[in-house]
Amino acid sequence: MPPLVSRPATPPGPPPAADFGHRGHAALREAFTPTQPQRNPRRLAGRTSELALIVQAVSYNRAHVVLYGDRGRGKTSLVNLVAAAARTAGYMVGRYACSHGSDFDEIIRGLVRDLPKPFLSLPAVDDPGLEGCEAALPQRPLHPRDVALLPGRLSGRRLVLIVDEFDRVADSDTRTRLADTIKQVSDRGARLSIVVVGVSDSLEELLGRHPSIQRNIIGVHLPLLSDYEVKEILAAGARHAGIEYPAHIQEGIAALARGVPYIAHLLGLHAGENALQRRAAVVTNADLRAAIARARLEIDPRVAVTFAELTRDGQDRQVQALLEAIAAAGHDLFGRFAVQEVDGAVRIGGRVIEPEPWARLGAAGVVRRCHHAGFGLYTFAEPMLLHYILLNVAASAEPAVLRATEPVA
Ligand SMILES: Nc1ncnc2c1ncn2[C@@H]1O[C@H](COP(=O)(O)OP(=O)(O)OP(=O)(O)O)[C@@H](O)[C@H]1O
Ligand SMILES: [Mg+2]
Repeated sequence: MPPLVSRPATPPGPPPAADFGHRGHAALREAFTPTQPQRNPRRLAGRTSELALIVQAVSYNRAHVVLYGDRGRGKTSLVNLVAAAARTAGYMVGRYACSHGSDFDEIIRGLVRDLPKPFLSLPAVDDPGLEGCEAALPQRPLHPRDVALLPGRLSGRRLVLIVDEFDRVADSDTRTRLADTIKQVSDRGARLSIVVVGVSDSLEELLGRHPSIQRNIIGVHLPLLSDYEVKEILAAGARHAGIEYPAHIQEGIAALARGVPYIAHLLGLHAGENALQRRAAVVTNADLRAAIARARLEIDPRVAVTFAELTRDGQDRQVQALLEAIAAAGHDLFGRFAVQEVDGAVRIGGRVIEPEPWARLGAAGVVRRCHHAGFGLYTFAEPMLLHYILLNVAASAEPAVLRATEPVA
């Protein structure tokens, strides 16, 4: 089995100089794509160890992978890379993104329809109208066994099936059947790996608890990016668009992104757009300030509503201060914060917190305990609330992220 190729490293080099001629709004929108997963390996910051782990599992260990993490952390971008690497190595790759109503049959047929027709060597049904390799599946409700037998009907060496957005599937029977499929494929030693991707903070929450398949599954919990990697996103975007994001702007964006690539793209895009509107090629504090104002409006409106309700439109200073204290506290690689509750006193990030507003956040479902992660670790139930709070603070007078003085021109 040939190894899957690894992605090329992000090319080194500083962002362009101040007198660099920028390439305009179109280039900027190509460089910063907050709403689109990355397809270009050169623009993907970090993720080398996660990519290696998944590739290793799929190519050498014949294992299956569950890739999970919070929304917007880069799961689809990472599996784009896995798929590209697998195709380059000659593997057959089928992908499907689930929706709320997807069931087992629809997911499997969707995956198989995505496989190019030339891979079909032994059809199960004679219907040339069927898309991709769907003719490899029987025309009756599908069973896990049908998936295990699938590689025998295809011509390629090995098959990789990638199921994205699995968290959206409401039907619990579909989860059980996918787990049964993993079991059957593993037991038969079929030339097939399944990669399940979705929003979750635990493997069990995404796939359900199935002790019989634990040995066959490699769980990959996607961490936040480091500040260095967020700055890499900005540097790569800067190179592509011909715009400079000076060091203090990069620091400011990294402080607001907190390792979330979506926020890095959003602020990078809007700050750059504002600079271009001024016909400038160097981003300034004023551009970042404008970007913060726009980003606040673009983050999911439900988050703004939640914040307004919790703080009673800023009237409840106690709750607002608590939310700001949580946002300012240290968060781990997965965006979780530690809470110490001793003798009725609550401490977050070294600060003593009023127990009453803290209890209210819990009762409202705004903060959630991460039972899988260990004792006393919590997270915002809606991770974008953290960024909304940080952007709010930054939009106020004299925020820390904009305090740096502009360099002398
Ligand atoms: N490692 C990375 N380097 C640069 N940009 C990234 C990286 N990972 C993700 N992005 C960017 O971050 C944004 C979110 O990425 P992506 O859609 O892959 O996340 P996701 O975890 O699949 O999100 P969702 O939970 O909504 O499905 C996109 O703009 C994408 O281009
Ligand atoms: Mg995704």
